[in-house]
Amino acid sequence: MSRQSPVQEEKTVGKPRRRRFLNWLWGGLAALACGEIVWFAGSLLKSRRRREEKRLALKLIDAGMVQNYKPGQVIAITDGSFYLACLDDGSFMALSRTCTHLGCSVPWDEKQQKFVCPCHGSTFDRNGSVLTAPAPRPLDYFPVRIENGLIRVDISTPLRRGSFSVSQAARV
Ligand code: FES
Repeated sequence: MSRQSPVQEEKTVGKPRRRRFLNWLWGGLAALACGEIVWFAGSLLKSRRRREEKRLALKLIDAGMVQNYKPGQVIAITDGSFYLACLDDGSFMALSRTCTHLGCSVPWDEKQQKFVCPCHGSTFDRNGSVLTAPAPRPLDYFPVRIENGLIRVDISTPLRRGSFSVSQAARV
């Protein structure tokens, strides 16, 4: 039977201790790396949420106070590239400027009291309904809400419709 020298014995006894230390060290480093990854993912999500909130906040356009509009009035809101129409019953609609035929920008003709597309002659009434083809459907609209007399229009997504309905207009 061979006996180990005192130096060899010390080496063999020291090995498990070193291994345990290295395992502990690797475990610690792995935990630290996991923590870093979680922190990084969390901050990415947070900044994405903040950006999204900012984006949504920017899509809400103030179109003035209710008392500044008269029934029958149509005003171009340049900030949001839409028209705000005050309908005959005093309700409000925010209409897209984009023609539903081929996408030309449609101006409001004050004299004729209708939207007249310069490209192919489609016309639309004050609530965006088609008066003259070739436009296949009414002008898209944006949701309007009235807060303490202030008209606010959410321009994040234009809404398509097949026809006009009173539910598309906002009332005080
Ligand atoms: S784009 Fe408006 S009628 Fe054609």
